[in-house]
Amino acid sequence: MAHSDVLVIGGGIIGLGVAWRTAQRGLRVAVVDPSPGGGAARVAAGMLAPVTELQYGEEPLLRLGMASNERYGAFAAELTELTGLDTGYRRTGTLAVALDSDDREELRELHAFHGRLGLASEWLTGRECRRLEPMLAPGVRGGLHVAEDHQVDGRRLATALVAACKLLGVAFHRTQAAALLTDGERATGVRLLTGEHLTAGRTVLAAGSRSHLLPGLPDGVLPAIRPVKGQVLRLRIPELYAPFLSRNVRAVVRGRHLYLVPRADGELVIGATTEEMGHDTTVTAGGVYELLRDAHELVPGITELPLVETNAGLRPGSPDNAPLLGPTSLDGLAAATGHYRNGVLLTPVTADLLADYLATGELPTLAADFTPDRFRTEVPA
Ligand code: GLY
Repeated sequence: MAHSDVLVIGGGIIGLGVAWRTAQRGLRVAVVDPSPGGGAARVAAGMLAPVTELQYGEEPLLRLGMASNERYGAFAAELTELTGLDTGYRRTGTLAVALDSDDREELRELHAFHGRLGLASEWLTGRECRRLEPMLAPGVRGGLHVAEDHQVDGRRLATALVAACKLLGVAFHRTQAAALLTDGERATGVRLLTGEHLTAGRTVLAAGSRSHLLPGLPDGVLPAIRPVKGQVLRLRIPELYAPFLSRNVRAVVRGRHLYLVPRADGELVIGATTEEMGHDTTVTAGGVYELLRDAHELVPGITELPLVETNAGLRPGSPDNAPLLGPTSLDGLAAATGHYRNGVLLTPVTADLLADYLATGELPTLAADFTPDRFRTEVPA
């Protein structure tokens, strides 16, 4: 029976980030996942956009997102230095644009909200938007430029995190966790699909939208994490058309939200639908049509580009759309899940906060608004 100090269930970028940072603290770490480095990050566009993706009423999440965004450059550089692998981290900034006057009103309100919160965000006319991005349609009515919202390539990041974990001696169990093991009072590890038992001082649930479904998890420890499907397209920008777009472009197109993320290697990612229909990852004609229709209205030249990939991922949505970070009500079990739209952005800060907790037993105050027990309701006597 293998034993580790920390056992991470789920080898997506959140689980891998936690495993890497925790191994750096000198703890023996194991990860359980049939396919480490898979998961939603392989679909995600990788925008690091705490300011342009800000939602009203989510100021605590903004603080966490800003803290993670500030750490990203060093996090990516450290991974590259260790593994020799590029993560695709690019300091591009983001332009958010509006197509009709209602869309412009929506972005003006977002800009005013940025102002009230003291966030750096500059309002531009349609002409100024097109000066920054000449491929934008002439009808663009205006928008806002956020110089500090950047991007990373989720696939490259996942690959680099797997390599970093291996270099730090993290053990990988390439199978599924069949059940959480408990001794009645505390979590003691997992039983694998192979029947093998892995024991651990602490277990971390980082299994995205399947986290609450792990057999053996006592009722009430985690809320249901709902899967929110996002369909995403990948196009290729031939050399001839480069740079095509120079920064992330987000848009409100007749009330619908869209983003285009151009990578240094010529990939252009267009996303994403938002659909609540269980654990379904079918790419649909309707999803692809809507994305292409809106992207074409925004950047007509996209119709010339090769379409090389379509796929769909599941965002893990908690009841309040903010992540669950730190110890649960079950002794020995911590959570790092429920990151919803912000998994890629929040990877560095989640990794640091969980590693601090696992190494010291103390959860840093930055995580105070995100503890899993915020969803617990008292059962009447
Ligand atoms: N953060 C982008 C998305 O969830 O679609």
